[in-house]
Formats: sequence, structure tokens, C-alpha cells
Amino acid sequence: MCGIVGYTGPRQASRILVEGLKRLEYRGYDSAGIAVQADEPQTGAPLVVIKKKGKIAALRQEVPKDLPGHCGIGHTRWATHGGVSDVNAHPHTDNSGKLAVVHNGIIENYLSLKEMLEKEGAVFRSETDSEAIAHLIAYNYEGDLEAALKASLGHLKGTYGIACVHADEPGRIVGARNGSPLVLGVGDGEMLLASDVTAMLAHTKRVVYLNDGEVVSMLPHEFRVSDAEDRPIDPRIDHVAWELDAIEKEGFSCYMEKEIFEQPESIARALSGRLDGEYGCAKLGGLNLSKKELHAVERIRVIAAGTSWHAGLVGCHLFETVARIPAAAELASELRYRNPVVEPSSLYFAVSQSGETADTLYAMREIQRRGGTVLGICNVVGSTIPRESDGGVYVHSGPEIAVASTKAFTSQLAAFYLLALSFARMHDMPHHEGTRYLEQLKAVPGLVRDTLGQRDHVQAIAKRYSKAQDFLFLGRGLLYPIALEGALKLKEISYVHAEGYAAGEIKHGPIALVSPDTPSVFLVPNDHLREKTISNMKEIKARGGPVIAVAEQGDAEVMAIADEYIPIPAVDSRFQPFLMVVPLQLLAYFIALELARDVDQPRNLAKSVTVE
Ligand code: F6R
Repeated sequence: MCGIVGYTGPRQASRILVEGLKRLEYRGYDSAGIAVQADEPQTGAPLVVIKKKGKIAALRQEVPKDLPGHCGIGHTRWATHGGVSDVNAHPHTDNSGKLAVVHNGIIENYLSLKEMLEKEGAVFRSETDSEAIAHLIAYNYEGDLEAALKASLGHLKGTYGIACVHADEPGRIVGARNGSPLVLGVGDGEMLLASDVTAMLAHTKRVVYLNDGEVVSMLPHEFRVSDAEDRPIDPRIDHVAWELDAIEKEGFSCYMEKEIFEQPESIARALSGRLDGEYGCAKLGGLNLSKKELHAVERIRVIAAGTSWHAGLVGCHLFETVARIPAAAELASELRYRNPVVEPSSLYFAVSQSGETADTLYAMREIQRRGGTVLGICNVVGSTIPRESDGGVYVHSGPEIAVASTKAFTSQLAAFYLLALSFARMHDMPHHEGTRYLEQLKAVPGLVRDTLGQRDHVQAIAKRYSKAQDFLFLGRGLLYPIALEGALKLKEISYVHAEGYAAGEIKHGPIALVSPDTPSVFLVPNDHLREKTISNMKEIKARGGPVIAVAEQGDAEVMAIADEYIPIPAVDSRFQPFLMVVPLQLLAYFIALELARDVDQPRNLAKSVTVE
């Protein structure tokens, strides 16, 4: 949700800024801009500001290849206040043009600030809330950008990650964070600032994750972190484990395709070092709860959004069926505002790929405020949810760049399968069953690789059905959340309407949608729900609806009924969610390709949604 980048050092700033914005483009991609300090600092020459509606490629065209300057800031936008236009793109400047600001977040009191600042002579040019920050800092500026920013922060209501530069302070970038991520990159004689580490991975792996309420002031050779009252903070320098390759496409046509095909490895990473063969159990080091505390858990609640919520639904099903602990997954955006009852005997999990989703973060804080314990299940190391949670599990899927989440989802599933096993082994799962469960879990990456072998078959099906305007995705039990996930994937990247439904529910209404033009994608389990699901399939066929069935290989009955059949390897039904989701990801991907959509950056969306 908007990406910020800053650079100060000996190299050409504009190149590093544009390249960093390209890395952050998945966070928002409706417009972008940079502000670079001109290279005659002593004269206090104003900044060079270049902004452009559209993607980073459009901005790149506008930036002269030889633009001088060694310090600057950049921004890629996902619009909240004000339409998509050159003028609304960041950076925003003050009246003098000497001060530039980029902002991620929302300033709730910008109208009253604007009114006050206009009375003081500020001339607003854009419709954004962010421009108020530039004028406010300029209003407080008396030759010290850090002091001016600090003087301004107390007047801002809302969320922000901010970076700013002033033409009179060569080489200096000042940043502040409250609710929107900001990471400092410590290089060799150079410093970077960005919304996430992907923008700086090519330059440094030494980073400082800023906390809410912290301000950083940086020059090429030094930086200082302090709070708004100017009390110094001792920063911790972390080392980023991700390699640069992980954020390259590596021969795939887009990130989503790469990430779908990476799943055998990413699931294996999520499981790696966590399988305790001797005790038929899982080893999860970061839960920060004693065995006694875990044993005393009476109920589990999962909070999350979107795809992560779907993983949570699978997780809760497992907690109940495998570990026999009552569990429910709730949309974080709903929980926060409904005055939730937080029981001391409940354990909460906040699930988030990015670790920055505002809905999930605020719901987590609300639960913690009421005395609840919240563990994170996150991918991005050092992001806000894992830092603020009481413990948790990193899923280690590696950087997920495509807006549509794929490999993070299956890694989240892996984390839930491990957690469910841990709880089950504390309660009534015997050792031999635990060992068998582990063996089955260990086989999942290989079976996902086999399922990916359906690529060409799914592509052919996608071609045949790509003109359909509506799809139904239907499943029962553990496969119901997978049906929801299949529908979400298709909607978000192809813009085709899709409904995910519990297969048993269609007769209560949605069956009215069935027609020869509305394909139904059925997820057929190989357990006690198989017959029921097949009956639902027949109900659709009887009404003339085409059926695409994903079912275990060799299922002759399903083959005979369905118009299209996508086989998946045989596996215990408990582990079918891992395999069932793969053809659905591929189906969405290939339909989006057929429709010539921008697969990695679908319209209106952004990854990492840091606004409510
Ligand atoms: C869908 C998708 C979103 C995210 C949701 C939560 O493909 O990516 O629905 O799952 O915005 O994001 P995280 O997991 O980062 O909290």
C-alpha cells in the first residue's frame, strides 16, 4: 500500500530510487515520483521533482538518464485521498519547492490542517492528504529538518511512514513511522530508507526496522534514531536472510507463475527443521508459551484477511478435527469493531503474509489490549505483526511479489498443520499417529510438485472457459476454504465474477445462478464427504451447468459426470487442501492470461494493505 524509498550516498540517486520503486511496485502502482537534491548543495538549489501517473515504467521515461544528485526520495502510490493523476503523485513539496515529502498511510485530520496551513499562506496543489504534511513541516522549519518533522508529528492524526528531504540540508533524509512500515538500510558509505527490504536488497542486507513513534535522520555515513521527544534510541541492526534471486522472475513470465511453481520448495522450507520424527510431533521454537500454557488452551481463534483468512479456516478445521480444540477463524476487519469477548483460556493467531495488514494488526492490538495472547503466523521477517505479537511462527515462503498470494498460502497451511499436530500430540493423538501424520506432511512438497504437472491440462481448460462471466467454486469440509480461495484468485487477477460456496449450501440459493454459461468448479474429497459432493455435482449437471472437477486421480465416477476433470495425486483427505489449491491457482492464472490481464499487478489492488 504505497512504497517509499530513499537514498543518500555517493551514487546517482535517481537510478537507485527508480530501481527501488520498481521493486516496491507491488505495493501500489497507480502513479510514482521522485525528488532529488540538486548537485550544488551549497547554493541551496531547489529539488528536482519528477512525478508521473501510471506505473514505474512511465516514470522511468521521464527521468533523465544522467540526472545528477546523490540524495533523494521516491514513492509509488495506491490512491486513497484524491484521484490518480500526476499532481496527486508523491513527492509533495512546500511553497518554496525546497522541501519534499513522501507518505504512506492516511492523515485523518488533513482537512483541518489544510485550513490552518492555508491561512498561513500554504498553497495546496493536489487533492491528497499527504500534501498537508509537506506544508506542516515547512511551517515548523527553522533550518533543521529533523526538528521540524518532530514538531509536526504531534499534529498528525492517522497513520504514516514518511520520508522527507530539504534542499538546504544536502545528503540528509529524515523519516518517521506510525502504523506504516519503514526500514533503514545501512550500506557502506551510503544509507537507504524503504517501506520494505526488497527495495534495498541489491545494496545492503543490514537493516534497522523502525518502530512506531521512531524518527530516523540519515546521512551517507551515519544515522540516528530517536523518538518524537528527541530521546535517542539504540537501534538494532538485523541481517536480511533473503537473497536477491528470490525477488527476480528467474525465467518465469511473471511473479505469480514463479511463485506457484516455487511451492514445493516453499512448503518444504516452512516444514524444515520442524518435524520431530522421534516424538511424532512438531518443533516450533517461537511460540513463547510453555507446554503447560499450551496445554491449558481451551479455544483457538484465528484473525486474518483475504487469503490468509482462508488459510485460517483450514487451520481451525484442523484444530477441531485433529487436535479436538474448538476453533474459529474470523475476519480481522470485523472483529475489531464488534467489542469482542476475549477469554483468558483462548489463544489467538494473527495470520498475515506481509505482517503489515492494518485490519489484522489493529484487531491483534485490540485483543492484546483486552489481555489476550496473540501469536503471529507471518512471512515477512521483522514486519509489524510478528514484532508486536506474543510469539509465533514464520512461514519462510520467501518474498512474495505478485499481488495474488499463492506460495504464502500453502506455507501458512504448513504452519497450521504443524500447530495442529503439536496440540493433538498434547491431547489424544498417540505417538504412532503423530509419526504417520508427519510422514504424510513430509510427502506434501513432492505431491505438490506432481500436481503442478497438470499445468498444460489446466491451461487447456482455462482456454475453453475463459469467456465465462461467472464461476462457482464449491467444496465441503476442509475444501470449503479452498473453494473460497479459488474464487478469490480468479476474481482478483482476471476480474471475472466468482463465488466460493460450501457445496451443501448451493441448494439454499446460489443454484439459481447455474446455467450453461456458468461453470462450477468442484473440489471432490476422497473421504466421507465424497458422495455428498458428487450428489451436489449431479444437481448442477441436472440443471445444465458445466462442471470442472478436481478429484483424486483415477476417480472414474467423477470423470463420468464432470465435463472437465483435473486429477490430483492420491493422498489422505486431511492433506488434500495443499494439492487442491494448486489447479485453482493455475486456472486463475491461465484465465487471466487469456484475458490479457496484468497478472502480477491487477487493477485497483495492492499487496500489503496498510489502510483499514
Ligand atoms: C489475495 C491476497 C489478499 C491478502 C490479504 C491479507 O490473493 O493476497 O487477500 O491475503 O490482503 O494480506 P496479508 O496476508 O499480507 O495480511
